[in-house]
Amino acid sequence: MVYIDKMNNKIKDLISDIGIDRYNHSLRVIETAVDLGKIYNADIKKVKEAALYHDCGKIGNTDEVMKISIEKNIKLTEEDKKSPEVVHTKLGAYLAKYKYHVTDEDVLNAIKYHTTGRADMSFLEKIIYIADYTEPKRDFPGVKKVREESKKNLDKSILTALKNTINYLKSKNEYIHKDTINAYNFINENRRSDILKENTQKDLKTLLEAASDKKAYNFKLIDISKISSIADYFLICSAGNTKQAEAIADNIVEKMSEKKIKINHKEGYRSGKWILLDYNHIVVHIFVKEERDKYNLEKIWLDGKDIDVENFGIENWS
Ligand SMILES: [Fe+2]
Ligand SMILES: [Fe+2]
Repeated sequence: MVYIDKMNNKIKDLISDIGIDRYNHSLRVIETAVDLGKIYNADIKKVKEAALYHDCGKIGNTDEVMKISIEKNIKLTEEDKKSPEVVHTKLGAYLAKYKYHVTDEDVLNAIKYHTTGRADMSFLEKIIYIADYTEPKRDFPGVKKVREESKKNLDKSILTALKNTINYLKSKNEYIHKDTINAYNFINENRRSDILKENTQKDLKTLLEAASDKKAYNFKLIDISKISSIADYFLICSAGNTKQAEAIADNIVEKMSEKKIKINHKEGYRSGKWILLDYNHIVVHIFVKEERDKYNLEKIWLDGKDIDVENFGIENWS
């Protein structure tokens, strides 16, 4: 009961600070953020708290917010001063901490960066950023697309939202906060490396299927991305004889080139007893049995991470 009274008082304070319209906006942000939180398995309690207080710093117009922030000695960067619209987020994080007694740093940061985003945004920061951008009453060009994207790919939706914001500010000749640019670069970089990882997985599947079709066996797939810059993966397999080793290599090259993946380097040791196919990110070694035993390549890469080729639907036999 005491808890409910305390909570009710906090809500009353919040409504009297930000007004009923903005409070209702916050409720819609809660609803949107919780829906996203469920899709992406977020901590719903944190999501609700961050969404409820995200705009608690909007306690007047931009000038008033700036004035109060200065009075409260809130540290504002030169960037913040050039983008006064953003200052309510800094005041918000301050009020959330000292007036509403929010203690969780992640929640406070989600409030602090809900308008600009930033480099290294946390998962919660992303959810609050996009929920604020897409809550159901938001209605501006491009918001529908971001709303749909947010349910399928959080980072992609944030990237689109940031791009929209940057283009909008540019068109109005308004200053773009550095945190917004940093957020864009950060998410863009992450997305690119995610796409690269996805493509590598597709390439591995193509390679393995091509080798398996020509009866390669005893596959050993090693993830060496963390221990070497030579490649991301080493794929080692055996062939019954030199002719078969060549057939495996030819099939791999053919199937990879069908997917427009060019080979960097090809080498056939000891007349097909050991064939190497270097695709930069993946290096394939095809051995006839005696050579494989002799060189025992897998021993060199013991620190790598073994990957089960059955993950790619390939039956492995030795
Ligand atoms: Fe806001
Ligand atoms: Fe908001």
